[in-house]
Amino acid sequence: MHRHDKAAQSVAVVTIDGPSGSGKGTVAKRLAHHLGWHFLDSGALYRLLALAAIRDDIDLDDGRALARAAEDMDVCFTVQPGHGEAVYLEGEEVSRRLRTEKTGNAASRVAAHKRVRRALLERQRLFRQAPGLVADGRDMGTVVFPDAPLKVFLTASAEERAERRYKQLNEQGVDVNFTDLVQEIRERDERDASRKTAPLVPAPDAVQIDSSRLSADEVFDKVLELVRENVQP
Ligand code: DC
Repeated sequence: MHRHDKAAQSVAVVTIDGPSGSGKGTVAKRLAHHLGWHFLDSGALYRLLALAAIRDDIDLDDGRALARAAEDMDVCFTVQPGHGEAVYLEGEEVSRRLRTEKTGNAASRVAAHKRVRRALLERQRLFRQAPGLVADGRDMGTVVFPDAPLKVFLTASAEERAERRYKQLNEQGVDVNFTDLVQEIRERDERDASRKTAPLVPAPDAVQIDSSRLSADEVFDKVLELVRENVQP
């Protein structure tokens, strides 16, 4: 192990994994902000790769070509005071396109390739920097940061998650059919949970929280309490 790796390993990580719509993104981002820690939105990396693949006409079933694209991809996450967050792919602002259902579904397909996951592993681990990291994803606790002192697995029923997504999309003025959304969420869950590499499963030492009947504040308070109990300052 290199000295750099050892130093990185002593930096605390809180992993928050779970299916889309479980509320993990909201709680992870808020926790990072609250603690003044770095934040890794690993789903955004898979989404960026999906965008790069669509742009460059790479077949979403071609794991080898996708892995090459993953290694080469130039991405940048920024927070601009007063303008919120912005994400860039090869210098082009893609923040809005990143969040569409089309990109999410393509991301779930590219994420199923073992080579792609391997290609993105180191990039994700580089986010582990002092004073700490909150990592949001599907395999943060199982594969990327298996030594994390606190692993949370957040769930919610498919209907509840579809409901949240439906509201979110409506607020953005996007017209969607609720039944289609539930169906899409079920299909995405099935694909994410059944893939051979890094499937969406809780780490054996993860604390599971079902957010179906909890408000965002209640989930945040629970996670913060876990941080106080499990993570050294
Ligand atoms: O969290 P999200 O919806 O932005 O993730 C988009 C897709 O990327 C999701 O369907 C599964 C995949 N993903 C993954 O396989 N592993 C991660 N750590 C994060 C996301």
